[in-house]
Amino acid sequence: MRSVIPAFCICCTLLLPATSMAADTQKGKALHDANCQSCHDSSVYTRKERRVTTTEGIKKQVRRCEQSLGLKWFDEQIDDVTAYLNDTYYQYK
Ligand code: HEC
Repeated sequence: MRSVIPAFCICCTLLLPATSMAADTQKGKALHDANCQSCHDSSVYTRKERRVTTTEGIKKQVRRCEQSLGLKWFDEQIDDVTAYLNDTYYQYK
């Protein structure tokens, strides 16, 4: 008897990486609310002369503030908070 290697195995491995891509704004909000409001309230994100002007800029600033707090977040958590801030305040494309 010959063994048959099922073709669907190949499909499964192709689908896997896509599932972990999307940032989670709910988690981002929870992380933000728990860690980020001791120095500045949310008005820094909407003030006229705000520093951040791009999505990449939000991410850099989230990383900067997170590091100065010594939180040691994973990239995923940075992305969640970045997505939350962008959705809620900055609204960059
Ligand atoms: C230790 C105090 C401190 C904490 C806590 C803090 N930040 Fe900040 N954050 C700052 C300072 C200082 C600035 C710069 C304000 C300025 O330029 O006037 C800033 C600015 C920012 C900006 C840019 C606002 C703009 O101008 O567009 C973002 C975004 C930001 N913080 C995100 C975060 C996030 C996310 C956290 C939680 C991980 C956090 N911050 C916690 C001190 C802090």
